[in-house]
Amino acid sequence: MLKNKSKILLNNLRTYSNNASTTKKIYPQRIFSGIQPTGSVHIGNYLGAITNWLKYQNQGDDIMLSVVDLHSITLPQNPKDLSKNILTMTATLLACGIDPEKSILFQQSHVPQHTELCWQLGCICTMARLAHLPQYKEKSENLKDIPLGLFVYPVLQAADILLYKSTHVPVGEDQIQQIQLAQELARMFNNHFGETFPIPHSIVSSSLNSRLKSLRNPDKKMSKSEPDAKSRITLLDTDDEIRNKFKKAVTDFTSTISYDPEKRPGVSNLVAIHSELTGKSIEEIVADAKHLDTLGYKLLVGEEVAARIRPIREKIIDYSSDPLYIMDVLKTGAEKASEIAERTAKEVRRKMGFNIDVKKKKSKKVAAQ
Ligand code: AMP
Ligand code: TRP
Repeated sequence: MLKNKSKILLNNLRTYSNNASTTKKIYPQRIFSGIQPTGSVHIGNYLGAITNWLKYQNQGDDIMLSVVDLHSITLPQNPKDLSKNILTMTATLLACGIDPEKSILFQQSHVPQHTELCWQLGCICTMARLAHLPQYKEKSENLKDIPLGLFVYPVLQAADILLYKSTHVPVGEDQIQQIQLAQELARMFNNHFGETFPIPHSIVSSSLNSRLKSLRNPDKKMSKSEPDAKSRITLLDTDDEIRNKFKKAVTDFTSTISYDPEKRPGVSNLVAIHSELTGKSIEEIVADAKHLDTLGYKLLVGEEVAARIRPIREKIIDYSSDPLYIMDVLKTGAEKASEIAERTAKEVRRKMGFNIDVKKKKSKKVAAQ
């Protein structure tokens, strides 16, 4: 089912050991993805990640979604902000349509087996391998002292995925190399300790939304970390903020509207956002904007995007005002996730030799109480 609906990129499976064998076991399909509770969700996250998760959820796939709080502390977090961000992120996912009856939605730190598996995988992963990953390089660039957690981050991500024997991981392009590490660690573990994990595949959306651009600099992707808040539309922006950000979006000196991402990245990004959020085709949007200049078009797109974001924003505010409900959703999600996680954790402990091999003899001694 998944194969027909999404572009599944089967990454090159690199392995450490020469005697790597391909897994022969067929695992049931399970989709896993995570999002960090940092900052408010922007339409890049929404269109590039969350709408894909909704698609899988609503077509009945087995999907697990984690608010990955342990990942977010790899860079300093104010505890009050972190706590609030976990609430807002969960409220946002619910407001976008993630249904805890259909998807397993949980907070990563509620399931301690993630950190246990991270340690176990960390002991078979080399430092040289981690030093190559781009996210670590980017995030540590401006740091004098680099936290160990930032370096180990991709091993924790591999643990997130493998703990649930996940087969597919929908992510943005920027995550592909991290999923490749998860594939390698799965293969290494299977080779050393016996068949345990499926090799997870990344699913990278092939549509327009896989890389929405910054409204201030259309050569860069829209990002939570860009200092200028006008560069992104968040799901919590008011109608006026949305209209304003579109009005100030950087385009070019041509006043007509056309779609040409290479030559006209700014205006094409607006058309892409417009199309993805309203469901109108690119052709239809360009034809409808025939009589408009760029400013006229920016006003139109601002209005239409504001109308799409408004009900989501209202739902986020509504869910956020009920932290007890959010806690309840996360508690139920953690219970469901823990059940699967503990099954894998037991298998891993046994295979790695943590259990004493008990022969069927009766003990003569009684352990001291
Ligand atoms: P992040 O904002 O880095 O925590 O990303 C959360 C998810 O949103 C990841 O799957 C990203 O690949 C995706 N994402 C982030 N920025 C964009 C963007 N500008 N366009 C499309 N997807 C994005
Ligand atoms: N690293 C991902 C990001 O920054 C978040 C993440 C953590 C994740 N664990 C994951 C994504 C497991 C997919 C699968 O966006």
